[in-house]
Amino acid sequence: MKIIRSKQELKAEIETIKSEGKTIGFVPTMGALHQGHRTLIVRSIAENDCCIVSIFVNPTQFNNPADLEKYPRNLAKDAEMLKSVGCKLIFAPEPEEIYHVDELNNHFEFDFGGLDTVMEGRFRPEHYNGVVQIVSILFHLVQPDNSYFGEKDFQQLAIIHRMVEIMNLNIKIIDCPIVREESGLAMSSRNERLTSEQSKKAVNISKVLFESRNFASQMTPQELATHVINQINQVEGLEVEYFEIVNVDSLQTVQSWSKSAIGCIAVFCGEVRLIDNVRYN
Ligand code: PAF
Repeated sequence: MKIIRSKQELKAEIETIKSEGKTIGFVPTMGALHQGHRTLIVRSIAENDCCIVSIFVNPTQFNNPADLEKYPRNLAKDAEMLKSVGCKLIFAPEPEEIYHVDELNNHFEFDFGGLDTVMEGRFRPEHYNGVVQIVSILFHLVQPDNSYFGEKDFQQLAIIHRMVEIMNLNIKIIDCPIVREESGLAMSSRNERLTSEQSKKAVNISKVLFESRNFASQMTPQELATHVINQINQVEGLEVEYFEIVNVDSLQTVQSWSKSAIGCIAVFCGEVRLIDNVRYN
């Protein structure tokens, strides 16, 4: 398995792969790989001739410098896991390899068509500009046929689909279901930062979300949203940042249950911010 650090070396590898007529599956990550990533990577290996995984903690998508600093990084451990599943190529550049200084200081702008006005977009200004910025750079470098993203960040997935459409890229985005711990907690690199007591409390997030599906026939979306927020806030140590029930395509808040709806949540468990979601129909 190769670990590539430079764009130049990656370019040479991609040219060879393409010249052999092989398909490329791509899984962009920020490292701290867990079972959720593993599922995407195993699928990418199975469905393509060659799987490339990028590991890059992208500074432009963090609006909180402390969060960027604390983001778990362990390339050696990640590489071990990638080797064990049969991944052949890791792209792990340093920020200077990806961005010029002016790109780090100037904001990248993308027309989200309203997809960024809710949820993460409201609470993490600039976050999705940074995501689109890095994913478009990585797509340009890797030139994948297929790219794999988890549904845990449902809003990110919707934005990536729009990006591919707007930029007219010939890349198939594969949506992959959330992978959960046995307890129901959605897998996340941030779970590493939870104490064992906090992990037990965090289980209430998925528990309340799953239970809420039973109330959908008795409550309006707004009533159900308030119910979910109250239930989770009742658990000491958990604080809901937002819970919104939105249409799966437009990501706008639904007023009735007539359209496909998904409830997306962000919760602080101590200092650790966790996201999850649940489908209602
Ligand atoms: O979902 C993530 O881990 C990141 O947002 C991504 C897609 C790797 C871009 O940095």
